[in-house]
Amino acid sequence: MEIETIAWRGDAASGHARVLDQTRLPTEVLTFEVRDLESMLAAIRRLAVRGAPALGIAGAYGLVLGLQAARSPDAADFVARTREAGARLAAARPTAVNLPAALERSVLRAQREAAAGRSPAEILAALLEQAQALEASERAACEAMGRFGAELLADGATVLTHCNAGALCTVGIGTALAPVYVAQRQGKRLRVFADETRPLFQGARLTAWELARAGIDVTVLADNAAGALLQRGEVSAVIVGSDRIARNGDVANKIGTYPLAVLARRHGVPFYVVAPLSTLDPRCARGADIPIEERAAEEVTRPLGVQAAPLGVPAFNPAFDVTPAELVSALICERGVLREPNEERLRAWL
Ligand code: MRU
Repeated sequence: MEIETIAWRGDAASGHARVLDQTRLPTEVLTFEVRDLESMLAAIRRLAVRGAPALGIAGAYGLVLGLQAARSPDAADFVARTREAGARLAAARPTAVNLPAALERSVLRAQREAAAGRSPAEILAALLEQAQALEASERAACEAMGRFGAELLADGATVLTHCNAGALCTVGIGTALAPVYVAQRQGKRLRVFADETRPLFQGARLTAWELARAGIDVTVLADNAAGALLQRGEVSAVIVGSDRIARNGDVANKIGTYPLAVLARRHGVPFYVVAPLSTLDPRCARGADIPIEERAAEEVTRPLGVQAAPLGVPAFNPAFDVTPAELVSALICERGVLREPNEERLRAWL
């Protein structure tokens, strides 16, 4: 049964978004209605909805919610409000490019509709249509990435993954986990090791939840056990998603991805990054240009609400790191598989 991470209910003027609250998983499966901009901003910031493609979709729906209250009959004023709400949503989480990119496309659409003489109500309807088209295209991208990625996985393969890049990070069957789901459909038997992914445990809470629910053999491990697992020679491939890929192929993903890539190289295990084209950022020349979100110290010092460090001790808590392109064996997107990505090869491929 499909996991509904985020969905729109109703029309543009009075509809709302329905969001699965990922902060409650794996113990509770709760969805809630999001009816205004502030609630969508809060849902994004507290990671109720998360993962690069899902953030793009949440941003696009959040914009529609933010504009429902804008009763101005003037299209120019409506476009100005679109820009304002778009900027607020885009800043809610800085690393995943899908969020600002989706909002930029929505603002441009609003401008085009206004220039064509459309009313605010018509512009709002166009923005909902665009958000729904994004949802559909991300869903299709997941299927395509799954098909390409599954070709790289033999029957009996063991996959090591980090964070959650499955159905919960997007709509459909996910990014990094899409090849696993497709391989399962093809009758291949796979085993997945899921790093717990401190400090917020997306691997243990979310990846393990969705894979177990799908009947896939999944084992969780502490992040610092990954080296020992690779050393035993028990991993066929490391597969991760991405929040932003620079022009030179450098990849930003959940903190802890870079050490996994180093370990994979050390042990001669392929390191695959699975991400839709919407995660490529042509404006970022290299990984160092990617903005890295820093989150609250309490996420590290009080994991899962348990005080784990002395009160008052600060914490280093970047939410993402950057893996240099030279450590990436292949990039898998809806267009296919690009081995050993670098700036030239990426440009030629795209
Ligand atoms: O902080 P999160 O949970 O939003 O981080 C998510 C990740 O790092 C995923 O691996 C990434 O978004 C890729 S999923 C397409």
